Amino acid sequence: MAYFKVESLVKYFGGLAAVNGVSFEVAKGEIFGLIGPNGSGKTTTFNMISGYHRPTSGRVIFKGREIHHLKTYKICKLGIGRTFQVVKPLGRMSVLDNVIAAAFSRVNTMAEARELAQKSIEFCGLSHVRDVLAKSLPIAGRKRLEITRAMATQPELLLLDETAAGLNPTELIEAIDLIKKIRDNGTTIVIIEHIMHVIMTISDRIHAINFGQTIAEGTPVEVARNQAVIEAYLGTDYA
Ligand SMILES: Nc1ncnc2c1ncn2[C@@H]1O[C@H](COP(=O)(O)OP(=O)(O)OP(=O)(O)O)[C@@H](O)[C@H]1O
Ligand SMILES: [Mg+2]
Repeated sequence: MAYFKVESLVKYFGGLAAVNGVSFEVAKGEIFGLIGPNGSGKTTTFNMISGYHRPTSGRVIFKGREIHHLKTYKICKLGIGRTFQVVKPLGRMSVLDNVIAAAFSRVNTMAEARELAQKSIEFCGLSHVRDVLAKSLPIAGRKRLEITRAMATQPELLLLDETAAGLNPTELIEAIDLIKKIRDNGTTIVIIEHIMHVIMTISDRIHAINFGQTIAEGTPVEVARNQAVIEAYLGTDYA
């Protein structure tokens, strides 16, 4: 039994097939990359996995259970966490309070939520800005807060949507370190990323889509050499 899989996922918005028959399987403990040009259906795929959008057809199966008909909070409770491409912190609340709010998806009391939030903040390296208002964080901090909030829901499977976008080279190294640390701590990861250095460095396998359809899947080296991926996405300059 696959740990996690999507089967023939389709999502129509009106007449537009944003995702048009995508299938893949993710093994427990893997970092699985999802790549493709702008508008190819990556975020829409995440939205269907996390219950944000219901698939037009197809199935999402987590540990043998169909989950595509469930509500977002139920999917979160089952152990699937996500970050959003456009980060949406509660700007007028502190970093700590943002993470406490997320922790309440997992626990019921303030004491437990605070403890879980503190752990998540420490794990993700945000202790030094714990009491800072979320809106005053620079982009790298806001991206990291997004991951910290997702981690406070205690995910077994974490969906990361472009959490490295907008980071400088030093911050990119730190982001890669954090993602590896999350995986080493036992969380399986599916990651969408346009920064090739990041996705090629950390993914065990990569699935490439274009116009909502699969064009390749394999190791980073295999996918980087794939002619369809080069033509649709990477370009011939990518070595
Ligand atoms: N809620 C929506 N309503 C209508 N169309 C949508 C909606 N969400 C996405 N789309 C369209 O579906 C297609 C796929 O969008 P999606 O956001 O999944 O792409 P993406 O691969 O994540 O792109 P990017 O790399 O730019 O983030 C696009 O044409 C987009 O405009
Ligand atoms: Mg996207």
